[in-house]
Amino acid sequence: MTAPLNDNNENNGYDSIRRSYRRMFFYQIWVRSFFDGDGDGVGDLKGVYEKLGYIRSLGIDAIWLCPVYPSPNADYGYDISDYTAIHPDFGTLRDMKMVLDRAHELGMKVIMDLVVNHTSDEHPWFTESRKSRDNPYSDYYIWRDEPNNWDSLFEGKAWKYDPGRGQYYLHIFSEKQPDLNMDNPEVRSEVKKIMRFWLDMGVDGFREDVINFISKREDLPDGLPFVPAVNGMFAYKDGPHIHEYLSEFRKVCEEYDCIQIGEGPMTTLKNALTYLSGKNKTLDMMFSFDHMMADCIYTEYIHRPFSLRKLKRAFSKWQYGLGGKAWNALYLENHDHPRVISRYGSERFRNESGKMLAAAYIFQQGTPFIYQGQEIGMTNIRLRDINDYKDISSKTNFHKYHIRDTLEKRMHRIHLSSRDSARTPMQWSGERYAGFSAVRPWFCVNPNYKTVNVAAQEDDPDSILNFYRRCIALKKHSKVLTYGSYREFFPRSREIFMYERVYKGMQRLVICSFSKRFTQVTLPKKYADRPRRLLLCNYAADSRDDMLFRPYEVRVYSFPRSNTDND
Ligand code: GLC
Repeated sequence: MTAPLNDNNENNGYDSIRRSYRRMFFYQIWVRSFFDGDGDGVGDLKGVYEKLGYIRSLGIDAIWLCPVYPSPNADYGYDISDYTAIHPDFGTLRDMKMVLDRAHELGMKVIMDLVVNHTSDEHPWFTESRKSRDNPYSDYYIWRDEPNNWDSLFEGKAWKYDPGRGQYYLHIFSEKQPDLNMDNPEVRSEVKKIMRFWLDMGVDGFREDVINFISKREDLPDGLPFVPAVNGMFAYKDGPHIHEYLSEFRKVCEEYDCIQIGEGPMTTLKNALTYLSGKNKTLDMMFSFDHMMADCIYTEYIHRPFSLRKLKRAFSKWQYGLGGKAWNALYLENHDHPRVISRYGSERFRNESGKMLAAAYIFQQGTPFIYQGQEIGMTNIRLRDINDYKDISSKTNFHKYHIRDTLEKRMHRIHLSSRDSARTPMQWSGERYAGFSAVRPWFCVNPNYKTVNVAAQEDDPDSILNFYRRCIALKKHSKVLTYGSYREFFPRSREIFMYERVYKGMQRLVICSFSKRFTQVTLPKKYADRPRRLLLCNYAADSRDDMLFRPYEVRVYSFPRSNTDND
């Protein structure tokens, strides 16, 4: 089945993001590590401005900017102390406007992160709220005389006692990220004001942070005590008023040409459909997490060897589940997960597996998101000392969960799971500090920057970077790969991920080998005897047309019915 379409507009100018997001490619920027435009070792908006041409050259249509607001950086920008300003590290509102205008000139949209489940404890709302039980902000947060048994996702219990007010406040993330009380209409009205502020400035939409957490069950029931470290997790998501609140926000967006993409940790497919489809649809797309757990149960907690079958089950679950009803947000990396080559591919076959992984997700049905550095095949860092890591969740996990293990084992787990692997400076060139900055950057550069960098890959037609460009161009020019239905073959295979896309009789077959060895591939019966054309491959073309796949080989085939079947 093919998803419903309302974007028949053929022009490539993408005038309306609402109408055309299904045909777009997004690029995610975690600004602090993208490019330092003012020479202080920290990435900033000037740096983003300078690299807009590069981003556009990939074929990108829209940028998602991670939080650029003032923040004490307890959680690097996801603890906001002022929603309508820019962090001085990143520049000014004027710089933001310049980025917006230039991106628009280049034909790209810009969406921002909307983080409203919580603020920073240094936000003036919280500093007021904690003062007393009867001031204008006292009900902006979730205060209780007695805490329930919930654990926070980042550090210890989810409640912290505030001696000034004589009560506990809820923080699902760090202590410095108190949860807002969305049941208070004034808080919702603040959120709408924030949205309007940025939309009036020209922003084209929002990525809405942990948006399924914003409504909590009123009784705040205890969680299941046998779920270690995340006790309460299932009680604080998809609360009773979530749709009501999201439809209020949706109304604001409807006044503008704006899209909304929600981050939905732990959301089931069934729940996701309640946000993404039907007449009360409140989000255009959602970031789901199942496919990010093919080597773990939540990256931070329990690690397992990579299982291709688990990955394929997750991919297909969301492809079949949303197909014809809603639209997927496709991603393999972002600022919260280690680098995908180090997880699902192979650092030894970095080049081959990086390209294969690109094709494996990009050609599914949905809008692809590419995270900075993914397009050049950046890999994980392995720092020796936990104190060299910056991310709060890496530090607290190290101290909390693995206390009985040896130091080596604990560090090994950090190497597998740390979000910091995605936050090292972007590798622009083989020059000092990877061309990211003229001075020592705020965080270490991955030592592989001399070989893994944009400049080297620009000049190499067989680079991962240029392969991403080919994938993007191929999908953008193809209705089958954009709108076609999805079907997986051989789901039980432990080496091969194979799926077809079909649209109005046109067919494409994507075959990905996840094996380090040569692997014989069998075509599904319906394709076996038909003439086929190789549209894309991650190995240099040779004259062979056998089905012996090389390590991490990927091929995309079409099956022309005639010489004119060019999609
Ligand atoms: C989201 C963000 C993550 C942040 C968390 C708390 O999951 O992507 O970076 O730490 O929310 O805001």
